[in-house]
Order: sequence, then structure tokens, then C-alpha cells
Amino acid sequence: MKKSIPLLEVLLGLALIGEVTWAIDGSSVCQQSISGASRPHSVRITEFGAVGDGVTLNTKAFQNAIFYLHSFTDKGGAQLFVPAGRWLTGSFTLISHLTLFLDKGAVILGSKDSADWPIVDPLPSYGRGRELPGGRHQSLIYGYNLTDVIITGDNGTIDGQGSVWWDWFTNHNLNYTRPHLVELMHSTGVVIANLTFLNSPFWAIHPVYCSQVHVHNVTILAPHGSPNTDGIDPDSSTDVCIEDCYISTGTDLISIKSGWDEYGISYARPSSNIFIRRITGGTQSSSAITFGSEMSGGISEVHVEGLHIFNSKIGVSIQTLPGRGGYIENVYISDVIMTDVEVAIAVFSQYGDHPDENYDPNALPFINRITFKDMTGKKIRLAGLLQGIEGDNFLNICLSNVTFTVISDPPWNCSYIQGYSILVSPESCEPLRERIPKDSSVCYPSNLFKSELLEQNHMVNAVKSMPM
Ligand SMILES: *[C@@H]1O[C@H](CO)[C@@H](O)[C@H](O)[C@H]1NC(C)=O
Ligand SMILES: *[C@@H]1O[C@H](CO)[C@@H](O)[C@H](O)[C@H]1NC(C)=O
Ligand SMILES: *[C@@H]1O[C@H](CO)[C@@H](O)[C@H](O)[C@H]1NC(C)=O
Ligand SMILES: *[C@@H]1O[C@H](CO)[C@@H](O)[C@H](O)[C@H]1NC(C)=O
Ligand SMILES: *[C@@H]1O[C@H](CO)[C@@H](O)[C@H](O)[C@H]1NC(C)=O
Ligand SMILES: *[C@@H]1O[C@H](CO)[C@@H](O)[C@H](O)[C@H]1NC(C)=O
Ligand SMILES: *[C@@H]1O[C@H](CO)[C@@H](O)[C@H](O)[C@H]1NC(C)=O
Repeated sequence: MKKSIPLLEVLLGLALIGEVTWAIDGSSVCQQSISGASRPHSVRITEFGAVGDGVTLNTKAFQNAIFYLHSFTDKGGAQLFVPAGRWLTGSFTLISHLTLFLDKGAVILGSKDSADWPIVDPLPSYGRGRELPGGRHQSLIYGYNLTDVIITGDNGTIDGQGSVWWDWFTNHNLNYTRPHLVELMHSTGVVIANLTFLNSPFWAIHPVYCSQVHVHNVTILAPHGSPNTDGIDPDSSTDVCIEDCYISTGTDLISIKSGWDEYGISYARPSSNIFIRRITGGTQSSSAITFGSEMSGGISEVHVEGLHIFNSKIGVSIQTLPGRGGYIENVYISDVIMTDVEVAIAVFSQYGDHPDENYDPNALPFINRITFKDMTGKKIRLAGLLQGIEGDNFLNICLSNVTFTVISDPPWNCSYIQGYSILVSPESCEPLRERIPKDSSVCYPSNLFKSELLEQNHMVNAVKSMPM
């Protein structure tokens, strides 16, 4: 039973701490477009000469089919249907008002010839390829300036056959940064659902400079140890919903980014209003949910809830470093279950690389209002590595109702941070030992608070309407 707080006290509390209020509204993106638009026209990839034998290269067939579907963009759009079969292809580019549908048993296979993945310009917020100076290989499925794009199916598969790329990376044979499986740039109204993504050469799904992105019910797999095979990386994007996914990859399951160092700072395109819920998975050499370390355009208003993380190096991490500038602010993470995780919560600033020597070491990141609530963990080595930067304390780090079974002593390793805690076991480190103020709008977003207030109002009204 929730403790009842007199309305007056709530209102007084609001007035006293009214300076800080934050709200996260990402859930509205989750509600829209979940079923996808139905398209009045549909063609099959086989009508364009594609052969699903796993050997024939079908890049031309995909390009021709999509070129043909251009004529339907102002007529409600069209669907490109990929039936069961193994469809080998190089990179191809989507158009607006298109649904790419992969039927049960349909597998799109990425070509193992790097020449089938053309070179595109580096992203302005990175100033160069993420791993090598210069351009980058275009993703297998690519889009630019699009609206209303749906990539879905009946659990069809998009397999990047990434092992050739991982070997080129390991043996230093790459000439350009590795490609993604799906990258959409400057696009809005994107739905990716009901599919399986395997063996991406690099990060699997990369929406960058996008808005209204909904990723729902996808499976993303890459072997442990495969380099940089992040699952989903929303980058300088707003209004993003990621839900009901199973992800097991070599590196981060989901990583929110916004460019790096002087390039990210001057491009100034934040990632904000992001809602992530019901994600299951693990990553042995990385962190399940990551913020940064590329965060120079800023990251804010992020709500994560319902994580089930196992066999991972880190559960949730906030990563940054001097030179990044930018900010990570107003992040609320709740309902997390972890098993077999080395470090449950990490907030740190020691690791990460720079695009070049021209970054400003005095560009310090601003980290503020990060709340971890309702978390449990078993077989955790270290509860938290929470380390800000000397002269740049990370502020308002809140731990609320967090219970971990921890091997390390001391269980928390904290420096240069300030914050609050309540109901934390093992007991939190000294800098966070101050109790979370009652109904603190420093630690809790105001819309959660507001819903409590509504409840109070409701109770008051209920009391009022009680027969005397
Ligand atoms: C995903 O599958 C569900 C269940 O079959 C369906 O209701 C939904 O419309 C599908 N989503 C998309 C975008 O195709
Ligand atoms: C994207 O849209 C902008 C603005 O409409 C336009 O200037 C640019 O040429 C487009 N780029 C591509 C690759 O379509
Ligand atoms: C998830 O996708 C699968 C196909 O990949 C479909 O069978 C299932 O109904 C979908 N579930 C939801 C909740 O949409
Ligand atoms: C989709 O296929 C993948 C890989 O084959 C499988 O792991 C997953 O359980 C399937 N999902 C559904 C909803 O059938
Ligand atoms: C890099 O360039 C060299 C020389 O042109 C070429 O032999 C090699 O195949 C290229 N590597 C990749 C991964 O494309
Ligand atoms: C603490 O979190 C657990 C889930 O981890 C939840 O069941 C419980 O109700 C929470 N307790 C309080 C006091 O909020
Ligand atoms: C805390 O972490 C730092 C950096 O990882 C490490 O050097 C230090 O030894 C740790 N302190 C304790 C008490 O474990």
C-alpha cells in the first residue's frame, strides 16, 4: 500500500524544488506505427530477376525493384516482398513510403566482397570514419532523407556474414570503416520490426540524425568476441522507441550516441527523448546499455525500463572522457534484473579514443541527474564503478531500491561524484549516502511525479465524493 501524502505537502514540495523539473515523453513513439502502414502495391524481388540460391549476387535486382517502386511513393507507397530463400546482395538504398518485408525463411545475405559495399562520406558529427580516417563503407540496407520506411517481416533474417570484416579488422586489412547492417540518415518515421539480424560487420542498426524511430520485436545476434558488433545505436536522434528485443552481441546491446569531440560539439545534434523497454540479452566484453562514449552533441531525456541482463561485463554504463564536451542528463533507468555481471553500474571517464589530436582537453562533459531504480543483481563482481572527472564532478547520481549480491569489497568504487541513495544494498559509497529527498524532482522525472500527484488528486476527490 502506497503511503498517502497530504496534497498540500506535495504542492509545497513542488514549490520548494520547482527549479528542477524534467520529463521524459518517449513512450508516445512506442504507441504509434506499431503495425506499420499497409501498402496498396506490392512486388516480389523475383519479378526483378533475383535468385535465392545464396550464390547469385542480387544487388541489381534490389536496386531495380526499388527504382520501379519510386512511382508509387505518392500513391500510398509500396512493399518489396522477399520470399523464402537465400538472397545474396551488396548494399542497396531504400526510398520513402517503402515497406521491405522478409517472409518466413527469407534471408538477405551480405556480400563477402568489400567492393559490393560502396564508400560514403564520413558523418559530420564524427569528422571521419569511426575506426579509420576518411569515408566508410555504406551499410547493407541504407537510407537518406526518408520518411515512412518500414523494415519488417515474419522473422526473416538479415545476415551480414560479418566474419570476413572482423578478420579484415583484426588483421589491419581494412581501408575504410566497416559498414552497418542497416543505417538510416536524416530520416523520420522509421519502423524496424519482427526480424532477426545476424553477424553485422559493425554496429547492426544505426539511425543517425533521425526522428520517430521505432524498433520493435527484433532479435540481434553476433558471436561473443566479434569486434564492435553493437546491436542498436541511436545516434543524434530524437523520439526513439526500442522495445521487446533479444540482443546478444560482441559489444554493446544498445548504445546511445551523439558524435565525438570537436566534430560532435560543433554539429550539436543531441540524442533525446528515447524510451527503451523490455530488452533481454548479454555481452561478455561490453556493456548491455551504454550512453556514449560518443556523446559530444548531448544525450538527454532517456527512460529505460525492464532490462534482463545476463553474462555481461557491464550492465548499464555512462561513458565519456575529457575532450568530449556535451552532456548526459535526465536519464531514468528502472526495473532491471542482472545475473552474472562483472560491474552492474559503471559511470566512468577513463577509456575511449579521440578522432584526432585537435580535440580540446578542456571540453569537459556535464553529467547530471542519472537515476537507477528498482534493480536487483545476482553474481555481481562490483556493484558500481562511479568515477567522475577531477574538477568536473558528475552530479545528482541517484540510487533507489538497488539490491545486488556482490563479491568485491568494497562493493562500490566512487570518486568525483555527488548524489543520493535510498534502500541500497550493499550500502552505497560515501558520496551517495545522502538520502534521496522525499519526492525529489532531482532524482525522479516530473511526469512520474505528476502521475503520483494525479493519484493524490484522485484520492482527494474520492474522499470528497465519499458519502458523509
Ligand atoms: C509485427 O508482428 C505483429 C504480430 O504478428 C504484428 O501485429 C505487427 O503488425 C508486426 N509489425 C510490423 C511493423 O510489421
Ligand atoms: C536531402 O535533403 C536535402 C534538403 O531537402 C537536400 O538538400 C539534399 O540534397 C538531400 N540529399 C540526398 C542525398 O537526397
Ligand atoms: C514478433 O515477431 C514474430 C515474427 O518475427 C511474430 O511471430 C510475433 O507475433 C511478434 N510478436 C509481437 C509481440 O509482435
Ligand atoms: C526468430 O528467429 C531467430 C533466429 O532463427 C530465433 O532465435 C527467434 O526465436 C525467432 N523469433 C520468433 C519470434 O520466432
Ligand atoms: C584494401 O585495399 C587493398 C589495395 O587496394 C586491397 O587489396 C584490399 O582488398 C582492400 N581491403 C578491403 C577490405 O577492401
Ligand atoms: C524494489 O524493487 C523491487 C524490484 O527490483 C520491487 O519488487 C519492489 O517493490 C521495490 N521496492 C520498493 C520499496 O519500491
Ligand atoms: C577503483 O577503481 C580504480 C580505477 O578503476 C582503481 O584504480 C582502484 O584501485 C579502485 N579502488 C578500489 C578500492 O578498488
